[in-house]
Amino acid sequence: MTDHPARMAAEEPEKMTPWDMFNMQVPTDHMPEKGVPARVAKAVVNSEAWTDARPMMNLSSFVTTFTEPEAEEIVHEHFLKNYIDHDMYPQLFAMEGRMVRWLHHLWNGPADVSPYGTATVGSSEACMLAGLAHKWNWRQAREKAGKDATRPNMVTGGNVQIVWKKFLRYFDVEPRIAPLKPGNYRLTTEHLERLVDENTIAVVAIAGQTFTGEDDDIQEIHDWLDAYEKRTGISIPMHIDGASGAFVNPFCYPDYKWDFRLPRVQSINASGHKFGLVPPGLGWVVFRDDTVFNKDLIFYVNYLGGEMPTATLNFSRNAFQIAYQYYTFIRLGFEGYARIMTKTVENAVHLRDLLVQSGYFTIMNETQRIPVVALTLKPEYTNFNEFDISAKVRERGWVISAYSMPPDAQAINSLRVVVRPHLNANTLGILAGDIIQACQWLEKHGGNATPPSLHDAYKSSPAKC
Ligand SMILES: Cc1ncc(COP(=O)(O)O)c(C=O)c1O
Repeated sequence: MTDHPARMAAEEPEKMTPWDMFNMQVPTDHMPEKGVPARVAKAVVNSEAWTDARPMMNLSSFVTTFTEPEAEEIVHEHFLKNYIDHDMYPQLFAMEGRMVRWLHHLWNGPADVSPYGTATVGSSEACMLAGLAHKWNWRQAREKAGKDATRPNMVTGGNVQIVWKKFLRYFDVEPRIAPLKPGNYRLTTEHLERLVDENTIAVVAIAGQTFTGEDDDIQEIHDWLDAYEKRTGISIPMHIDGASGAFVNPFCYPDYKWDFRLPRVQSINASGHKFGLVPPGLGWVVFRDDTVFNKDLIFYVNYLGGEMPTATLNFSRNAFQIAYQYYTFIRLGFEGYARIMTKTVENAVHLRDLLVQSGYFTIMNETQRIPVVALTLKPEYTNFNEFDISAKVRERGWVISAYSMPPDAQAINSLRVVVRPHLNANTLGILAGDIIQACQWLEKHGGNATPPSLHDAYKSSPAKC
C-alpha cells in the first residue's frame, strides 16, 4: 500500500511528484521521518506561506521589498559565506571598512579623525553597540574621577523604538523617558531639566521615528545640552537613531544639521535594510571617531584562523547584505539615492494629501522628512476606528499599521503608511481609494475592532519596522 502521499513520503519518497504534495500531511510535533524530492519540499514550503502578506503590499514595514536582477545575483554569489570569517573573505571585510568611511563622510564626520563603525544585523544591534559604548565611556570617566559609577541612566523620548527599551533592560541602564502628549510626538527640550543628570550616559534623539516619521528636535536638544554643560560642567553625548532618517536626510535635506556636524553627536545608527535599500539583515553603527567605541568592547579571537577583532553582538552572519549594500552604493551613487528618496518623499506627500482631502483624517506628523504618512481619524467618526480601517483594507491585500501612541498620548490612535520606493503615484492612488472606500463602508456599517490594551499595543506596535 504505497498510494497515499503521506505514506509515500515516508516510504518511497523518490516516487513522489510535486502533485502528491497536495495531500501531504506535514507532522506538527516531530520532524518528518524521511525526506521528499526537492520540488515537493519547495511546493510544501511555499504553499504554507500563501496566506502571508505580499511584501510589496506590506506598508506597515520599513524594510526593502524591491530588488534588481543583478542585485539578486549578488545575493547568490555571496549568501553561502559567513561574514565573520574575515580571514577567508578579506575583501568583503575591506568593503565594510570602506562603507563605514563613506557613511562617516555622508553624515559629515570630521575629516581629521579615524572613523570607526561596523555593519550589524539591523539597527537593533547597532543601537545596542552604541549604547554599550556610551555606558563604558561614562563608567570609565566616573571611575577615573573617583565618582559613583553604579547608576547609569539614558534619556530618550517616549517615541523610541522598542530596541532602546530592550537595551535599557538588558544592559541595566535606568530608563529616563520623556512623555509624549497629544499633538506632540517628538523628544523636545521640555523635560530635559528633570531627566538629565551626571549619571546620563547619553541622550538618544531620533531622525525618522517609527511612529510618525518625524525627527526629534535634534538641534534644540544639542543646544540645550551645551547650555547645561556651561551651567553644571557635565558634558553629555548624543546618539542619533537614524534607522530610517540617516538614509533620507543627507540626500533630501543637505543643509539640515542632524548629524556629526553637531559636536555632541558621537554615534549614529542606520538600517541598511530600510532606506539603505538592502533586503532584511543589515544595519550600521558609525562613531564620530575611533576613540568613542571603547576598546574594552573589542575581543580578539583566533578560532577561524588568524587573529581577528570582533566587536558585534552577533558572531556568524550572512555576508550577502554587505556585498549588496556595496552594490547599491556603487550602482546608485549619491545622485541615485537623492533621486529615489526625493521622489519617495514626494509620493508620500501625494498620499497624505489624498487622504487628508477625503475629510476623514488629521495628519499627525507636523514635519514630513521621511516618507511616512501618519494619520488619526477625526473625532467626529465615532462608530469605527483606525484598527477597523487597517483590518478592512487588508481585504484588498494592503497591510498598514494601526496602533495607539505611547504615554502620555495613548488616547490617540494612529494609522501609518510607510511609503517605500517601489510605490509610484498610481499605486498610491489605488491605496488611497481603498482606504477611503474602507472608511465609507465603515461609516455606514460601523466597525467593531477594540484597540489592544496599552500593554498589548506595547508588545506589538513599536517593534513593527
Ligand atoms: C527609529 C528606529 N530605531 C530602531 C529600529 C530597529 O531597527 P531594525 O529593525 O533595523 O533592527 C527601528 C525599526 O523600525 C526604528 O524605526
